[in-house]
Amino acid sequence: MSKWVRAHTNIALIKYWGKENEALIIPKNNSLSLTLDAFYTDTKVTFKADLAADELILDGEKQDQTALKKVSAVLDLIREKAGMTEFATVESVNYVPTAAGLASSASGLAALAGAANEAAGLNLSSEALSRLARRGSGSASRSIYGGFVEWEKGTDDQTSVARPVDDANWDIGMLFIIVKDAKKDVSSRDGMRRTVETSPFYDGWLATLDRDLAEMKAAISEQDIDKVGTIAERNALKMHATTLGANPPFTYWSADSMVAMDAVRTLRKEGHSVYFTMDAGPNVKVICKQSEMKTIKQALCAYFGEEQIISAAPGPGIQVMEN
Ligand code: ADP
Ligand code: DP6
Repeated sequence: MSKWVRAHTNIALIKYWGKENEALIIPKNNSLSLTLDAFYTDTKVTFKADLAADELILDGEKQDQTALKKVSAVLDLIREKAGMTEFATVESVNYVPTAAGLASSASGLAALAGAANEAAGLNLSSEALSRLARRGSGSASRSIYGGFVEWEKGTDDQTSVARPVDDANWDIGMLFIIVKDAKKDVSSRDGMRRTVETSPFYDGWLATLDRDLAEMKAAISEQDIDKVGTIAERNALKMHATTLGANPPFTYWSADSMVAMDAVRTLRKEGHSVYFTMDAGPNVKVICKQSEMKTIKQALCAYFGEEQIISAAPGPGIQVMEN
């Protein structure tokens, strides 16, 4: 039965950046994220006998082939599992700016996997949903679960799957500094491909990931925000360094991103537990204690408008909505 399904975005603390297998979306490295409550997607899938192709209506607007391709990749797998041939109308609402480096692809494709599962009546497990969401967008595999989540790279379609690590029910949260919410020039998909293929720094990035991941997992189990933040910040900086070595080179940073990163460093010098991470876009995410969030937000208002700063707490896994 068609039902609305909600999935929240997640922000990686250990980044996924590069694919081992493009067709199956199997990554080069394990990644680890925090699912957040502030941004999410609601999606409903309806299979219809009279459609000649799948269609995606996002925020009331029919989407182009590029967006549809990811959606149909997931729907094809659902059709195969359910032995169905009907195409589907996908209605989706993003409570997150689309393609601005705020992980709309994660919440969007995870919500789609959940909604398609409901529409086809497949009753898939969370693990199967994670696998399915991954085929739409890698980071979406992690948005099936709440709290801290690790996507194990695996070696094939079956083993490349996300798993919950910790419920994040402790004093940690994230502030989003929205320096720009417009669509980015280089999508994550194109950016990571270009980096893997051309950046001489890519191997250097990969070489340090096992250590970052092991230290991050230890820091999470100790609930040590300073360790979590330190590792996340250095991991993000390394990922962004790889893009400067790509050919042609590119960066997701803008002048305002630098202002935000500097503001975080200043607050840290003043004694606060604050760290930043960034994804494929100019917006900056600030890792801090939930108990300090109001103070940190106020301090950041010296650099940015209050409306540009959004507070987020750890969020839940996917949910089937009742109406
Ligand atoms: P972001 O930083 O927002 O994740 P990406 O470039 O990685 O940016 O992904 C954005 C793309 O994800 C969109 O162009 C679209 O293809 C897809 N996407 C985003 N939201 C949805 C949604 N609700 N349903 C289906 N696909 C979506
Ligand atoms: C920088 O999951 O959007 O946010 O698998 O090609 O759809 P595709 O890429 P996507 O990439 C996310 C990249 C990142 C890091 C991360 O979320 O781990």
